[in-house]
Amino acid sequence: MPVSSPSGPVFPGNFLWGTATASYQVEGAAAVDGRTPSIWDTFAHTPGLVTNGDTGDVACDHYHRLEEDLDILAELGVGAYRFSISWSRVLPGGGSQLNQRGVDFYSALVDGLRARGIAPVATLYHWDLPQELEDAGGWPHRDTAERFAEYAGRMGEVFGDRVHTWITLNEPWCSAYLGYGSGVHAPARTEPAAALAAVHHLNLGHGLAVRALRASIDPAARVSVTLNLHHVRGESPGDAEAVRRIDALANRAFLGPMLDGAYPRDLIDDTAAVTDWSFVHDGDEAAAHAPLDLLGVNYYNPVLVRQWDGVSPRSTADGHADGAASPWIGVTDVEFVTQPGPYTQMGWNIDETGLTELLLRLHRDYPGLPMMITENGAAFDDVLDDDGRVRDPRRVDYLHRHLTAVAAAIDGGADVRGYFVWSLMDNFEWAHGYGKTFGIVHVDRQTMRRTWKESAHWYRRVVAANALPAAR
Ligand code: FCB
Repeated sequence: MPVSSPSGPVFPGNFLWGTATASYQVEGAAAVDGRTPSIWDTFAHTPGLVTNGDTGDVACDHYHRLEEDLDILAELGVGAYRFSISWSRVLPGGGSQLNQRGVDFYSALVDGLRARGIAPVATLYHWDLPQELEDAGGWPHRDTAERFAEYAGRMGEVFGDRVHTWITLNEPWCSAYLGYGSGVHAPARTEPAAALAAVHHLNLGHGLAVRALRASIDPAARVSVTLNLHHVRGESPGDAEAVRRIDALANRAFLGPMLDGAYPRDLIDDTAAVTDWSFVHDGDEAAAHAPLDLLGVNYYNPVLVRQWDGVSPRSTADGHADGAASPWIGVTDVEFVTQPGPYTQMGWNIDETGLTELLLRLHRDYPGLPMMITENGAAFDDVLDDDGRVRDPRRVDYLHRHLTAVAAAIDGGADVRGYFVWSLMDNFEWAHGYGKTFGIVHVDRQTMRRTWKESAHWYRRVVAANALPAAR
């Protein structure tokens, strides 16, 4: 238990400290050693979809700078590193033929981590579906779930002896609703019914993948999924219905099948005009409900909603403009309210109280379920000063606040096992390209040179102390 002391909260003895990245955001080497395109390669190469025309072709060139990046992790002193495997690097075209050169890269990563005493935490799917599987229908298509499970099983066979923490999906909310609903993520489709079918096949794929993994990995290994649960607040007590609607789509659409074995009735009713959910076959909800060892929670900020009267101009604080396709399938009478600042470079408000409340809600709803913060962090417009330093006090402040919030949740009884900063380094921030920088390590876009920001130095001290300093 964290104890109050002049030095700030102390974390539990076995608390796991880490940093996180994802394959398409850092690796580069997009067409190297047999890798084939994913939906994000296609998206980024479609003019107008990514700010500045940026692509992940080179990204942070992590593929070729593996040793240097491993050494940075070792110097940070972290106990774990969360990375994702590029499906089309290890199984080109989404097929069944293992690409040894792709496997070799992740072997070098996993072995390099272990040699440095760092636990590999592997995410199987961080949004980069092999393009061929999208061409065959993508996540709205049932077969994608089966293919995902096959891929998971193959990865378990190859890495199961060396990787002891697995995450099936990263933020299926984004894959389904941003990929197939609002279309601001790959594959840029705006088909409301398909978005809900994607929700289901992601849930099903997750459950099938958990089983496929368990068949091949070390029996003591932990299997998890990472959700970007939304901490939804209503502007006033009269907004409870708006909160319920958004909570159903954002949170219970995944928590329901994965942790309770059933879709919430209200979600089915709310979306009846969009789909009859006939893509849910008998036994699917049970299949999605595979026992988990850990729940991965990504948190950046809370959301604030209110009932919309249908008359006044609708607030667009959720980022989707009026008239544009919405990620909130079937919802027309809720608006997202602009929250008080301060804000990060993404325009996201900084409010760590949502993280404590979210973790305590999960603790209440799923008592005894171990959790891990698999992403938390902030983008700021950092500057590499002439003296070679990157001074990012706002990121230090953000991390300090959110770690304090995690400690408060642990104090309140939540079983939180670890925390991963998003991100180890500045990288390809999806549709925003390279302009939004989340790293605790700065990456020069021309030279690829890595420079520790002040936040990285600060994080190293926190990890070493297993405690926060009293002052930021
Ligand atoms: C999350 C993603 C991650 C990163 C952060 C800022 O939604 O999982 O890849 O882009 O947001």
